[in-house]
Amino acid sequence: MDIIRVEGGHELNGSVHVSGAKNSALKLMAATLLAPGVTTLENVPNISDVHVMGKVLKRMGATIEVVDEHSLAIDTSAVDSWEAPYDLVAKMRASTAVMGPLLGRFGKAKIAMPGGCNLGARKIDMHILGLEALGVHFDTDHGYIHADASDGLVGTTVTLEFASVGATENLIMAAVRARGTTVIDNAAREPEIVDLANMLNEMGAKISGAGTPVVQIEGVDELHPVTHRVIGDRIEAGTFIVAGALMAGDEGIDVVGFNSSHLGMVLKKFELMGIDIERIVGGVRVRRAERIRPVDIQTLPFPGFPTDMQAQTMVLSALADGSSVITENIFENRFMFASELVRMGADIRIESHHAMIHGVKGFSGAQVVSPDLRGGAALVVAGLIADGYTEVSAIHHIDRGYEHFVSKLVGLGACVERATRPDSIDD
Ligand code: EPZ
Repeated sequence: MDIIRVEGGHELNGSVHVSGAKNSALKLMAATLLAPGVTTLENVPNISDVHVMGKVLKRMGATIEVVDEHSLAIDTSAVDSWEAPYDLVAKMRASTAVMGPLLGRFGKAKIAMPGGCNLGARKIDMHILGLEALGVHFDTDHGYIHADASDGLVGTTVTLEFASVGATENLIMAAVRARGTTVIDNAAREPEIVDLANMLNEMGAKISGAGTPVVQIEGVDELHPVTHRVIGDRIEAGTFIVAGALMAGDEGIDVVGFNSSHLGMVLKKFELMGIDIERIVGGVRVRRAERIRPVDIQTLPFPGFPTDMQAQTMVLSALADGSSVITENIFENRFMFASELVRMGADIRIESHHAMIHGVKGFSGAQVVSPDLRGGAALVVAGLIADGYTEVSAIHHIDRGYEHFVSKLVGLGACVERATRPDSIDD
């Protein structure tokens, strides 16, 4: 099986440039369905989730030219199918992001119902409720959701029960082609949503308020293709900042290629934990923390502390000189990583949505399993400071969202490699 093997104890130095944001790129790719013609996306991360989204679009009849490793020219002129098939939705829930644009362009969509994932049920009830308010009719059969807006989409006010990122995005991508004006109240405010709204406005949409809780979309008759650069990945950046806090040399490491204001709460919490973070051009410089102070954290929609940084932050909390609590409010099952970190010597007890963490002196390297994308990356980061070797398996999770993760760490001086370990022989 493929593993990532880390030898702990190597100091990190130099600079790492993060890739484009996965959680923006996937939606920007879906949004190209709204503008027949060739839209070119730049700074797209070369990761498996992007490849899956590319397959979804190609199945519908789009063509994609890989201009260079990070630029895609997506031609959706010839799209003549509006189905996101089960085999691809099952691989990547974010395939459901094509629902809004398909309804906006064709007035219909056939989407395989997303199953659960390692983080929990992850329903799309809020997407459906909001789209129904715009005039979409839904029915489900044989594991597929059939959405029909042949009577047209009509703008209205939609109040989201929860500031869902995906629901906000699907609603925006449908509303840009609705008759009249749509207001989304209690909208998600993540920077990736602002990036999506910016590209749609470049395409001719009329969206205001993205990044605030109230987004207003005035429907337009058509959108035209553009060239758009994906924002830097704030979560990848946060992952490397944790690595620097643990293992950077005296000069610190530079993490660049992202907008540090997209990590405001994370940087604030890390500074409270005693981590020295300096804003620099294009990102931040982070130095190794002499001691890590325990700080309670709870995950919330942006601008609150992002759930996608929960596992990486738990690595820091597990080495703090004291006890702290991390509360996961976004997903019902995002603590599986903790049990793997315990195998490396962490002292963590899970009670419902709370992780009670008592700092320990250090970790010992172990064979651990990546439970999901961010947990897997966090285990590799924990291995950087652990005593001896750490072997992380199930690394396909990491490949979904981290481009060249191993080579970026090696570039900073870590002793990390991809390897294969014989599968256990069935007895
Ligand atoms: C996006 O997922 C991100 N994924 C997630 O990143 C991120 O953790 C999440 O937003 C929160 O920031 C992508 O952008 C591809 P939600 P999404 O809709 O859109 C529940 C990563 O590691 N919910 O805000 O699915 C849902 O089950 C990934 O990069 C409903 O119940 O997030 C979840 O518990 C992981 N009904 C919570 O809300 C709905 O209709 C947050 O979901 C929609 C959501």
